[in-house]
Amino acid sequence: MFFDKIVRPAMYRLGKNDPEVVHERTLTALSRVSALPPVLKALRRVYGTDAPTTVLGLRFPNPVGLAAGMDKNGRALHAWPALGFGFVEVGTVTGLPQPGNPKPRLFTLGESTAIVNRMGFNNAGAAALAERLKTTGKPDVPLGISIGKSKAAALEDAVADYQISLKALYPYADYFAINVSSPNTPGLRALQDRSALTELLSELQTTAKTLAQGERPAPLLVKVAPDLTDDALAELLEVCEEQDVSGLIATNTTLSRNGLAPADVRVGEEAGGLSGRPLTGRALEVVRFVHKQTDGELPIIGVGGILGPDDAQRMLDAGASLVQLYTGFALSGPGLVRRITRGLAAH
Ligand code: FNR
Repeated sequence: MFFDKIVRPAMYRLGKNDPEVVHERTLTALSRVSALPPVLKALRRVYGTDAPTTVLGLRFPNPVGLAAGMDKNGRALHAWPALGFGFVEVGTVTGLPQPGNPKPRLFTLGESTAIVNRMGFNNAGAAALAERLKTTGKPDVPLGISIGKSKAAALEDAVADYQISLKALYPYADYFAINVSSPNTPGLRALQDRSALTELLSELQTTAKTLAQGERPAPLLVKVAPDLTDDALAELLEVCEEQDVSGLIATNTTLSRNGLAPADVRVGEEAGGLSGRPLTGRALEVVRFVHKQTDGELPIIGVGGILGPDDAQRMLDAGASLVQLYTGFALSGPGLVRRITRGLAAH
């Protein structure tokens, strides 16, 4: 309530209604908070919820995580658990630093409780994230690191580019999310096809095993698009099983524009991926499909259009072991995280 009625409108006034400015300022504020232990402690008292679960061999204080893309460069690592998140996925980072697409590239669709974005993996690069993790340390909840392909790397060189990130960040990740599903890097989604995905995953697994030096290698999870057909998804799951992938993250943003409120149809024509309420049903369907197809044996992180406790519960009922939020958190703030985690804790 406080966030919706006071904080958010004020941020939008200060940010001149530009969602990317609001995002930047929020991250700057949270990066400061992240370095203030007494403030973190106070926030944790308000937002922290214990609903522990063990997935991927990792202990999560609660099953609600921050989705990739919100804190690409790991600027506010310690703030997220204090705001109630049970895990954090940073990135997507790429082998090379890159500016992303020209602005504007982020659009809020208020009537539809949705966002369209074509950020294009704007990030400081894997080495910079490694440096930051080295200085600020990991958060005290499981840390996922999402890795993707640099725009400048040709699709044929994608494996080498992912390898740069895997190697630089290996010491810090509790799991890696292999992002082959962003719609905003030309050609990236082709990496979901059988032969390209087989090569990418087998090479990354080999590297992870080498880097693990006899210990258990970091789990690799694949993040999928909601726009795959059932056949394409079934084929992708076969590859994931062949390559011993530890889990699936479903889903990334969609290219579909179904489910927009009439007032948002025009802004909805902007190129990019759509997230939020219009994605809820499809993300749930994908999670259900994956769960059934893998006989419930592949851990799933469910993400897409979770805007309240009921959505989160439905995602878990569909077979997800963990959930993540982006749009809901961006539009409603940390009160949403608390409502969801408390709802799940009470269930
Ligand atoms: C994203 N998302 C995303 N995903 C990813 O794997 N890597 C990324 O860098 C980003 N970046 C990103 C930026 C912005 C502005 C948005 C809105 C989204 C996708 C995100 O993690 C999530 O999968 C989708 O947004 C669906 O969940 P929500 O937003 O409906 O909760």
